[in-house]
Amino acid sequence: MQTYRIAPSILSADFARLGDEVRSVIRAGADFIHFDVMDNHYVPNLTIGPAVAQAIKPWCRRDDGSAVPLDVHLMVEPVDALAQSFAQAGADIVSFHPEASRHVDRTLQLIRDAGCKAGLVFNPASSLEVLDYVLDKVDLVLIMSVNPGFGGQSFIAEALHKVARVRQRLDAYHARSGRAVLLEVDGGIKTDNIAQVAAAGADTFVAGSAIFGQRDYKAVIDAMRAQLAALPA
Ligand code: DX5
Ligand code: ZN
Repeated sequence: MQTYRIAPSILSADFARLGDEVRSVIRAGADFIHFDVMDNHYVPNLTIGPAVAQAIKPWCRRDDGSAVPLDVHLMVEPVDALAQSFAQAGADIVSFHPEASRHVDRTLQLIRDAGCKAGLVFNPASSLEVLDYVLDKVDLVLIMSVNPGFGGQSFIAEALHKVARVRQRLDAYHARSGRAVLLEVDGGIKTDNIAQVAAAGADTFVAGSAIFGQRDYKAVIDAMRAQLAALPA
């Protein structure tokens, strides 16, 4: 049985009530809290930094006390110093765009040395080639299905082909190494396209506006899970 994870992006949450929003979306069934960091340099927008990650970290728990991973998506350049700051702030996963780091292998290593899982993020027009060289140091691959910088954009369908190609590579890698790497997709995911993204091979789904744009977060997450459950095994 395939395990799917839903990662609400708090980029579309009410920033004036961020702790409450995190708690609500966890009660609604979030598996990860996706945290979008934009620097007005690598992407044309400015969001939240390590201090905010540290402030919401205590809220990243279910009512039974179990932890919900804080999934930090860095859209920043350079990467290394901020990656370390987010690790100290309580990030569980730190992902970055390979174009934004001079030394991708070193950045992956320093994220792991800081005790986090490390992710590589691929823009719609970015090649996957770097994966051939660093997969042993990657815990998560994140495929962008929009150009990074804003919530609420439309899903770029070409991303489905890329997801399928990454799925093949990760399956082959799992067969030879025994190591499972997560395959996350980010941008424009809604109840009506999540099944297609899963069918292409994704196991983890970021959704910002689709969830926080509705009053009833649980209704949206339940509807997404129902779509996933209806997929052929
Ligand atoms: C875009 C961000 C996304 C964004 C997704 O640069 O990385 O995580 O918040 O938002 P939606 O789901 O609204 O496309
Ligand atoms: Zn993101």
